[in-house]
Amino acid sequence: MSQAVDEIKIGGIGASRKRVEDDRFIRGRGNYTDDIVLPGMLHMEILRSPLPHARIRSIDTSKAWQIPGVHLVMTGEMMASRNLAWMPTLSYDTQAVLATDKVRFQGQEVACVIADDPYIAKDACEAIEVDYEPLPPIVNPWQSLADGAPVIRDDKENQPDNVIYNWEVGDAAGTDRAFAQADLVSKLELHYPRSHPSPIECCGSIADFNRATSKLTVYMTTQAPHIIRAAVAMVAELPEHMIRIVSPDIGGGFGNKVPVYPGYVCSILASILLERPVKWIEDKSGNLISTGFARDVYLKGEMALRKDGKILGVRMHTDADHGAFFSDAQPSKFKIGLMHSAFAAYDIPVAHLTARGVYTNKAPGGVAYRCSFRVTEAMFFQERMIQAAASDLGMDQAAFRRMNFVSDDDFPHRTPFGFLTDSGQYAKCLDVGLKAVGYEDFRKRQAQARERGRLLGLGISTMTEPLGAGNSREYDILGIKMFDSAELKVHMTGKAILRTGAKTQGQGHETTWAQIVAHELGIPAEDVVVEEGDTDTAPFGMGTYASRSTPVAGAAVAMVSRKIRAKARKLAAHLLEVSEEDVDWELGRFYVRSAPDRGVTIQECAMAAYSNMPDGMEPGLENTAYYDPPNLTWPFAVYIVTVEVDPQTGVWDVLNMVAVDDCGVRINPMIVEGQIMGGLTEAYAMANMQFITFDADGNCVGSNYMDYLLPSAWETPGFELHSEVVTPCPHHPLGAKGIGECAAVGGPAAFVNAVIDALAGTGVRNIDMPLLPDRVWEALTYHRDISGAPPVRAD
Ligand code: CDP
Repeated sequence: MSQAVDEIKIGGIGASRKRVEDDRFIRGRGNYTDDIVLPGMLHMEILRSPLPHARIRSIDTSKAWQIPGVHLVMTGEMMASRNLAWMPTLSYDTQAVLATDKVRFQGQEVACVIADDPYIAKDACEAIEVDYEPLPPIVNPWQSLADGAPVIRDDKENQPDNVIYNWEVGDAAGTDRAFAQADLVSKLELHYPRSHPSPIECCGSIADFNRATSKLTVYMTTQAPHIIRAAVAMVAELPEHMIRIVSPDIGGGFGNKVPVYPGYVCSILASILLERPVKWIEDKSGNLISTGFARDVYLKGEMALRKDGKILGVRMHTDADHGAFFSDAQPSKFKIGLMHSAFAAYDIPVAHLTARGVYTNKAPGGVAYRCSFRVTEAMFFQERMIQAAASDLGMDQAAFRRMNFVSDDDFPHRTPFGFLTDSGQYAKCLDVGLKAVGYEDFRKRQAQARERGRLLGLGISTMTEPLGAGNSREYDILGIKMFDSAELKVHMTGKAILRTGAKTQGQGHETTWAQIVAHELGIPAEDVVVEEGDTDTAPFGMGTYASRSTPVAGAAVAMVSRKIRAKARKLAAHLLEVSEEDVDWELGRFYVRSAPDRGVTIQECAMAAYSNMPDGMEPGLENTAYYDPPNLTWPFAVYIVTVEVDPQTGVWDVLNMVAVDDCGVRINPMIVEGQIMGGLTEAYAMANMQFITFDADGNCVGSNYMDYLLPSAWETPGFELHSEVVTPCPHHPLGAKGIGECAAVGGPAAFVNAVIDALAGTGVRNIDMPLLPDRVWEALTYHRDISGAPPVRAD
């Protein structure tokens, strides 16, 4: 007699199942792009510009060609003859593949060499002579906007200056009215500095064009293989069905591996020309200096307040430094990503946002580094502004937030910028966090410590983040609607293979997707193998970024499992010799409603699909689901940090950090915790130590791990995680919300708010990240704000 299976025992939803992918990772058996070796493979290296802005007078490649082992030297001129010197970006701009007229940032790709090995290729790059005519470098928006500033993109028609766009959203007139009624207006200006996702594995590709079959296979580090396939088909004018993109194991992406980089295009052309596989693996400096950066926005805003603490309206302005090419990977409709998701957790009647984007002589990017298209900047500004406003009002930080939160019975809630949030228990999360950190007690200890000259501080950050772009009505990239997919094939013995259009980069999809199948079908998770990243086999999908996998691809996995279950039900009815209406389901088993002992397992149904199906039924047990989500998911988080600042040195230490995340139903609680810890670590790094800036001559400072610091376990503080608040997403089939990015998005403001709180009474309103000791010391000693990332003097 068959019985229902125990969901946790079979590794279904809620099971903290160990990550199956880790077995190969910790044994050194991962298969990353650089691990792949193909017969006859050549190697490509890129020559990069040492100057940030210069006209190219000439390029002499003759010496490089003479080096034994060199097969090909490519320049912009050669690319231009094939109409490949420029490529489209994901934001409807163009980007140089190899420079022809000018170089526009330090590290820009100027030429490349294909040789027998990477060392020969590197030597040959150094033998290329480029005659540059230096031009004045522009390293921030203010230089870019100054009268008479050199026009960086003089390659473009109708580009008289360096402005890329002026964009606005919200209600300008209504916001003016709200400000006219305010008792108090609180103001804040800050800079979210340029940062870099810096995955441990750099970018790379192996292009393999087979003349005999006319098929192009590219193994590459991409988070979005299907988008790359479409881009290659369009840019290189190759038939899409003859292109196969394979994204093998990826050693971290964090948004860095979404864009199309010149190295990919060059390796593809080289393989087509040479009819041999060509491998390009970027080095760490190349990755830091030339690939998609994040942030680099200047934010200013003001908040209209009633004296009892009610927020009446908000004005925000951002100036975004996009570097030399506007290549943000973001939904087409939104010029500054989802910056207007700011203040979504707060009940604010009206708001207005203006945004201006400019070109500078810096690497292009604007990638969503572990965030849903600029929400990191939005939430950082929001939580810094909330702290400033509460201080200006003389109100308690927690009470001010609680008073202005969207309340639990206010959903669905239309935010001041037009998003629809649908669920949450914001005040409850805050209460859990305050209790865990011992809020009242800490405030007492803080006051006592201050009397003895010790500076303690507490910072709160509370936010809801839009995750899971998105519904196809509003979200597209280059016109391709955003949705995702899953294909499930159940074999006759009840084992299964699942493929999705997402692409894991360390998030554990191989583990969690199988748990969703287990939850829906009762097939043990260990009987389900998950595959992603091969465009010849995976169903079409938009890839993994912006924490969209669980909200979109994860939902598709649930939906395809339900399609399988629907067919299995018909098979069960056939096997049980009753009508389908008389069959009920419990996990892993169908049974006759009137005789529950008579049942068949899902595995028996699978066997029947291949051996004993009813007349007229199509054999087999497989299906595909495309999922277009009705809305974004809106997880909520509370991060609270306590710190002590050393007044002698400006060094600050984290005493405690509490995180309360409500991401709806957790598929794998252990993986969710891992995601939160990783995100908090990155948040700490951004707040504390990461600095990628440019000197006045346009040199990138932070192009190596001696300057651009990654926190190790030694530096990283401990985190206390809380999971007791669960508000299921009302429209997701499993009630799940995204989580991958929340901590990296909401975390930084908690750290900064804590340090600013420790400095209370000094008049310091802002220190821009990173809060390096010298910046904190200067603020504390001279009672002044430390703003921006000005050019660092070369001398
Ligand atoms: O798109 P990405 O995979 O980066 O982010 P995500 O959808 O937030 O998922 C990150 C990891 O956490 C995946 O393995 C998810 O399946 C898992 N997760 C979960 O177990 N429960 C949730 N409610 C959300 C994510």
